[in-house]
Amino acid sequence: MKALIVQGYGQDASIGQIDMPHVRDGYLLVRMQAAAVNPWDYKLISGMVKDLSPITFPYVPGMDGAGVVLEVGAGADEWNKGDAVLGMFATGTLAQYALISAADTRLARKPDDLDFEHAAAVPEAGLTAKTILRAANVRDGQDVLIIGATGGVGLYATQLAKAQGACVIATGKSEDADYLQRLGVTNVIDYACVDLTTQMRKRYPSGVDVVIDLINTGDALIRDADVMRRGGTLVSSLFGPDKRAYPNDITVHYIQLQAQKGDLEGLARRAAIGELQVEIGRTYEFVDGAQALADLRDPAKHTRGKLIVRAAP
Ligand SMILES: NC(=O)c1ccc[n+]([C@@H]2O[C@H](COP(=O)([O-])OP(=O)(O)OC[C@H]3O[C@@H](n4cnc5c(N)ncnc54)[C@H](OP(=O)(O)O)[C@@H]3O)[C@@H](O)[C@H]2O)c1
Repeated sequence: MKALIVQGYGQDASIGQIDMPHVRDGYLLVRMQAAAVNPWDYKLISGMVKDLSPITFPYVPGMDGAGVVLEVGAGADEWNKGDAVLGMFATGTLAQYALISAADTRLARKPDDLDFEHAAAVPEAGLTAKTILRAANVRDGQDVLIIGATGGVGLYATQLAKAQGACVIATGKSEDADYLQRLGVTNVIDYACVDLTTQMRKRYPSGVDVVIDLINTGDALIRDADVMRRGGTLVSSLFGPDKRAYPNDITVHYIQLQAQKGDLEGLARRAAIGELQVEIGRTYEFVDGAQALADLRDPAKHTRGKLIVRAAP
């Protein structure tokens, strides 16, 4: 099959031929229609996380995707050839075919009213946002600051926080202000032009209830406490310092995506009926898949929402 292939850490991905995965017991073999790229993909192939999550080469990147079931492994009785699905796959999705476990909570049926490209944009970022919102326990009327709101996870975290009744404050450049307001953000702080802490203290002198930080690590993450109310909750999608480094009255969560049964179906259904906006910043043809990964990593290439790669014909 055709796939985007990486031959070693730090090497560029290129299109080549690789053996098609064989369907295993309990798995579905899916003919991909679209894939989304995520920061984890470039972290894996660059070697940034090789001590934590080593990979073997040749390696096909991509974990998010949507497509049509071509073969059903023994025991995956709820599924049929021809079913349209979305999810997080066990093999690389920047390929013509990929495998997904039928028992995985990160697999869902694709609603008819959601096209494959929008469906592929949902799984990793949407499920991470769900995990974050569960940890943050956002309640009606709370002030929630989202740092890194313009990217994939921010797209969904912003809307889920708003749907739970929060007043959402988000970081974003001035060109993204209208977009963030469309997602339900009340106040946009242009992190490129002003100091976030100074601005936040000016606008919210008594602090916010929740900070969702998708960007900072180390001391910068600890400084989020400076814009929070006593008793507030900080949720980070990245690992951070020892929790004893924060003031006692701040609850800190470093989350890892954890999908509960029904989460992905719920997100896909809400997206299909227009209750959840799915922003696709750019769509790439399969031959430009390596460019999608490079663009996502490059701070000079602005990312809004998700980057999507169409499957190889
Ligand atoms: N723990 C987990 O299970 C988990 C799961 C998913 C993701 N993550 C991690 O969470 C992070 C965010 O993921 P993502 O998918 O949302 O990434 P993304 O789609 O690349 O979005 C990142 C966004 O952050 C913005 N940004 C960059 N620097 C910023 C700054 N200094 N202040 C405010 N915003 C800034 C970028 O916008 P501009 O273009 O305006 O700079 C971009 O839109 C990544 O590091 C990812 O690896 C962790």
